[in-house]
Amino acid sequence: PYDTLLAEAAGRPFSAIVGWPVEHSRSPALHGYWLKKHRIDGHYGRLPVEPNAAALGTLADFLRSTPNARGCNLTLPHKIEIMPFLDRIDAVARRIGAVNTVVKQPDGTLEGRNTDAFGFLEALKYNAPHWMADTGPVVVLGAGGAARAVVASLIDAGVPELRLVNRTRETAVDLGVAFTPAGGQRIVVGSWDERSALLEGATLLVNTTSLGMKGQPGLDIDLARLPHEAVVYDIVYVPLETYLLAAARSRGNRCVDGLGMLLHQGRPGFEAWFGPTVDVTAEQRHAVAADL
Ligand code: ATR
Repeated sequence: PYDTLLAEAAGRPFSAIVGWPVEHSRSPALHGYWLKKHRIDGHYGRLPVEPNAAALGTLADFLRSTPNARGCNLTLPHKIEIMPFLDRIDAVARRIGAVNTVVKQPDGTLEGRNTDAFGFLEALKYNAPHWMADTGPVVVLGAGGAARAVVASLIDAGVPELRLVNRTRETAVDLGVAFTPAGGQRIVVGSWDERSALLEGATLLVNTTSLGMKGQPGLDIDLARLPHEAVVYDIVYVPLETYLLAAARSRGNRCVDGLGMLLHQGRPGFEAWFGPTVDVTAEQRHAVAADL
């Protein structure tokens, strides 16, 4: 795969999505859009890397020793396992406990970053500009890797009360402990059976579980107690319109799908590797969504 990537890059600066598998990743489409739009002579490819320490060590050595390699993105199952192979982990990635973006520094060392929290909040700002973090409670469903980034960004945004709900309650308790909020903020952990009741008075509901994803069961939740002014945000993006979003939309709630988060999380990496400041556009959304 390294030879293929180098041949595609043909001497140009490059980055890539690294995962196992990576065939279906949308990242080449989203970065390819920016490369073309900004007329950058660079490449963003795919790099399948097996989930073991030897393969991740080889990846890190390859990035360090290849002059035109600018870094990479990481997806499942590498976001946590890559960390010991990097030279430095920035504060945000350390707090979230996962790296989705690697940036090679001028001295050839590798810095791990996490742009998922940024992407989550940026997409929320763009798609629900009237939503204000400090006005009421937020309900987060799920407590996995994605939830960690979501909780970090909501705490930093100043949400006064976070209600964490996960099928495995213990995992949500651990998440709440890991993200001790600032004074005046609180984290409440609810059980999975309470998920509908906890919507009372919420300003935002976020689904970070895999429920609703293509091939998975839908999220079973009763929205009756959710205020009609609340925003409903599903970070699932295949399909774009999940059952949750369809149900929320039909009762008048503002909806945010997961594609915006995917697009916005790509911005900081692109800017670090290739230079220009980039923005997410409707045209890019269509291009990336085309074959979802
Ligand atoms: P990601 O990195 O995308 O967050 P993950 O770490 O595997 O993926 O987390 C998946 C989340 O979806 C978890 O919160 C998981 O709940 P558990 O902690 O109980 O496993 C949740 N999830 C997956 N399948 C579920 C189901 N059938 N019902 C409820 N929650 C489910």
